[in-house]
Amino acid sequence: MKTKKLQTTTEDIQAAAELLRCGELVAFPTETVYGLGADARREDSVRAIFAAKGRPADNPLIVHICSMDMLDGIVSYVPPIAHSLAKDFWPGPLTMVLPKKDTIPSVTSGGLDTVGIRMPSHPAALELIRVSGCPIAAPSANRSGSPSPTTAKHVMDDMDGRISAVIDGGLCEVGVESTVICFDDEETIHILRPGLVSAEDLEPYAAHVYVDEAVFRQIEADAKVASPGMKYRHYAPHAKIIPVDAPDFMAFEAFVASQNAEDTWCLLFDSDPTMSEVPCTRYGDNGKEQAHLLFLRFRELDEQGAKLVYVRMPKKDGADLSVYNRLMRAAGFEVIKL
Ligand code: TXA
Ligand code: MG
Repeated sequence: MKTKKLQTTTEDIQAAAELLRCGELVAFPTETVYGLGADARREDSVRAIFAAKGRPADNPLIVHICSMDMLDGIVSYVPPIAHSLAKDFWPGPLTMVLPKKDTIPSVTSGGLDTVGIRMPSHPAALELIRVSGCPIAAPSANRSGSPSPTTAKHVMDDMDGRISAVIDGGLCEVGVESTVICFDDEETIHILRPGLVSAEDLEPYAAHVYVDEAVFRQIEADAKVASPGMKYRHYAPHAKIIPVDAPDFMAFEAFVASQNAEDTWCLLFDSDPTMSEVPCTRYGDNGKEQAHLLFLRFRELDEQGAKLVYVRMPKKDGADLSVYNRLMRAAGFEVIKL
C-alpha cells in the first residue's frame, strides 16, 4: 500500500474523510500527538489499526469526537462532573472513560464496556471528524512500544506502507498524550494517565482526585489494571534511557564523567551548562517545554545512533508528572539516584 501524504487544506481533509468513510486508516495531527484513525464503529477498520500498530487486542482505543451530539450517540451515561469537565476542557487534551453504547464495538474498547472519549482541539482533527461524520478511534500513530509521533515524518517512519494516508500538521503543540481519567463514583476522578491537564486542574471539579499507582511504578504484565495501556512498556526509543536523579547539574556531570560507555548521550535542561566530554541535547526547563520535546528528542537520539542516554530528571508536580511518567516508562522505571 502506498501511504498518501496530505496537507491540512480543505481539499486534503475531504480526501482523508472519504478514506475514513471507506473504512481506511488515516493518521492525523492532534494537539497532543499524531493519531492513527479509523471509523470507531467499524470492526474491520478498528482491527486494521491493531494490526498496523502491532498493538495487543486488550488495549482499548480512544474515540475522538467533534461535538456533544456525537458523544450522545456513543456513551450511555455522562456523570455531572464529566459534563462540567467537557464544558471547561474540551476541545483539549483530556480523555474521559465512560460507559459505551453498542454503536461502539467491543474491539474498539478492548473488550471493556467503557470507552475513552476525547474532543481534540487541533483544527485539522476537528475538521476531519466533522467532515467524515465518523467518531474516530485513534491510538497514537506509532508502532506499539515506540515513542508517540509528534511529526508526520515520525508517523511515516513507523507506518509508511501500512496505512492509507497521513495528514501533515507540523510539530504537535503538547507533545505527550492526553490525560486519561475515569470516574470511580459520582465524586471521584481517577487519573489513569497523566497529561497536560493535571490533578491540580481537576481538583475543583470533584471531592476526590487521585493518580493511579501504575503511573509511578511498573505493573506486572498479568496484573488487572484500570487502564490496560499502563501495563505495557512504552514510549521507548532504541537507546537505553537512564534517568539520573541528581541534586544538581554538577553531581549529574560528575556521575556521567565517571561512566565511560560508548555512544553515550545526555538529555539536559536548557539552563544546564555545556558538557564537553559527552554529546548533549536539551529538552527545555519546565514541564510544558519538556512535554513538547521529549518524544522528538527520543527519536532524534535514535537517529544519532545513541546507545545510552542519561537524562536530567523532570519534576513530578502538576503537568510535569506527564513528562516524569513517560520518561520512567521509557526507562522501565529504573532510575539512578545520586
Ligand atoms: O492524546 C492522546 O490521547 C492520543 C491522541 C491521538 O488522541 N491518543 C492516545 O491513544 O494516546 P493511545 O491508544 O496511545 O492511548 C490510550 C490510552 C491507553 O493507555 C488505554 O489503555 C487508555 O487510554 N484507555 C482507552 N480506553 C480506555 C478505557 N475504556 N478504560 C481504561 N483505559 C482506557
Ligand atoms: Mg500510544
